[in-house]
Amino acid sequence: MSTLRANLQQLRRSVAVLPADGAALPTDAGGLASLTGLQADPWQRDLLLSRDPRMILNCCRQSGKSTVTALIALFEALAVRDSLILLLAPALRQAGELLGKIKDAYRALGPAAIPLIKETELSLTMANRSRIVCLPGKEATIRGFSGVTLLIVDEASRVPDALYMAVRPMLAVSGGRLILLSTPWGKRGFFHREWTEGGRDWHRVRIDASQCPRISPAFLEEERRALGTWWFNQEYLCLFEDNVSQVFATELVLGAASSEVLPLFDMPAILAQTLGESDQIAPLFEVMS
Ligand SMILES: Nc1ncnc2c1ncn2[C@@H]1O[C@H](COP(=O)(O)OP(=O)(O)O)[C@@H](O)[C@H]1O
Ligand SMILES: [Mg+2]
Repeated sequence: MSTLRANLQQLRRSVAVLPADGAALPTDAGGLASLTGLQADPWQRDLLLSRDPRMILNCCRQSGKSTVTALIALFEALAVRDSLILLLAPALRQAGELLGKIKDAYRALGPAAIPLIKETELSLTMANRSRIVCLPGKEATIRGFSGVTLLIVDEASRVPDALYMAVRPMLAVSGGRLILLSTPWGKRGFFHREWTEGGRDWHRVRIDASQCPRISPAFLEEERRALGTWWFNQEYLCLFEDNVSQVFATELVLGAASSEVLPLFDMPAILAQTLGESDQIAPLFEVMS
């Protein structure tokens, strides 16, 4: 039964990507990447061939994580009719940049690809009714999509948790895939949490600068001097560093916390008892902080 279903799925994909002249396009995103002229790095190739439902890419600046994700998105749109692919980033402009990469890859395919029936600055609609849409980076305006086939969160470490919580349910009924990609940004937020505590649900990929053939050791040395260790570790070594302004390391703070010890003082309550008026308390806290 499952073989039959797999065969049907494969057939559906092949038909969906049939170009006008009758020659079939590749049946996986790896083949699609080659058609666009990209020689994928080994880790990019693995990702292009993966069908894992949850992928998290902790990869250094300029390693090619947006490029590979753009190709995964494009393949999904071509191969699965009626698919809905959402692009989320900290700001709409950044989601638009990822869409720009998808459009570039699409154009590189030439007339072989399924035609577009609508193209705007922030979306693409194909003749097989697949859509790729950029989401605004604001929680209040983001709801309303369902049946999402693939959700991509670019620069994920900078996307607020509330936004992540708002988009995840869009995958609930469709069983769609989720890809998070970013460099780290301190030990905070969902990107760090999913990377460190997300369990076995995630296919994790970490690519530091030494694994990217396009970044030279000489450039890296210059960057280390210019950025300093903290930034360099984060941007090029993909390390989740403590926040710059933090006095104590996160591990120290977490290790010291205990639910068995009650706080010695409830400062706001004591001040309220002593001073009575609440508007006298706020300025005091400003002085203390
Ligand atoms: N396999 C590759 N071969 C050649 N160039 C690549 C490859 N992957 C990415 N690039 C190029 O490297 C640059 C950075 O890629 P990008 O995907 O924007 O990186 P990131 O999102 O990791 O910062 C782009 O100019 C892109 O075209
Ligand atoms: Mg990028």
